[in-house]
Amino acid sequence: MSEGLFITFEGIDGCGKSTQIRRLCSYLEERGISPVMVREPGGTVVGEKIREILLDKKNDGMGPVCELLLFEAARAQITEEVIRPSLEEGRVVICDRFFDSTFAYQGHARGLGDSKVSGLNLVATSGLSPDVTFVLDIDPYEALERRGIRGEAEDRMEALGVSFQDKVREGYLMLCERFPDRVVRIDASGSREDIASEIAAKVGKMLDGRIC
Ligand code: TYD
Repeated sequence: MSEGLFITFEGIDGCGKSTQIRRLCSYLEERGISPVMVREPGGTVVGEKIREILLDKKNDGMGPVCELLLFEAARAQITEEVIRPSLEEGRVVICDRFFDSTFAYQGHARGLGDSKVSGLNLVATSGLSPDVTFVLDIDPYEALERRGIRGEAEDRMEALGVSFQDKVREGYLMLCERFPDRVVRIDASGSREDIASEIAAKVGKMLDGRIC
């Protein structure tokens, strides 16, 4: 059983993750690799139901601890059902958000603190960690503008506004500093092509010498 490669993408809402995930997927396919692509919260039948609860704007009475536990519940399910088995088969797994989102959103921006989040992340993942995490770093006003251009409807998390997104961004930048070997900050205000090349170069290096 060979070991796969676990890649995660992170950033504030509207940072351009989806585009870059698609670009990375094309790059991998050109190399003859078919990646497993998943997103959080969601990616499983149970997880998609939890996602609906989490993002529904009608649930504006949800407390921060309830929110934290629901994100972790969805994570536990996708880790055991999809991510871990795929990695054990030697696949490349790309996950749109993983436990760093919980550090940035619930731990930092919501103010629940690192230790609570660390403990629950460990329970949800049984210690599984990404091999590399790309944080697409962008100014919240620019991200808001992009979302407006795409005409996306606001969900419960996005409705928290720019000052909340600013705190989330701060949380991500702290993670980049704390885990420099794993978490890579990407300037997401640059051109899509430059960003895609930077990411492909890093992943290409990691793949060289591996069988995926
Ligand atoms: P989504 O529509 O998937 O946003 P995006 O396309 O920006 O990834 O919604 C997920 C929302 O949930 C997003 O606002 C980030 C938030 N979130 C957390 O607050 N904590 C978490 O642990 C995760 C995984 C996501």
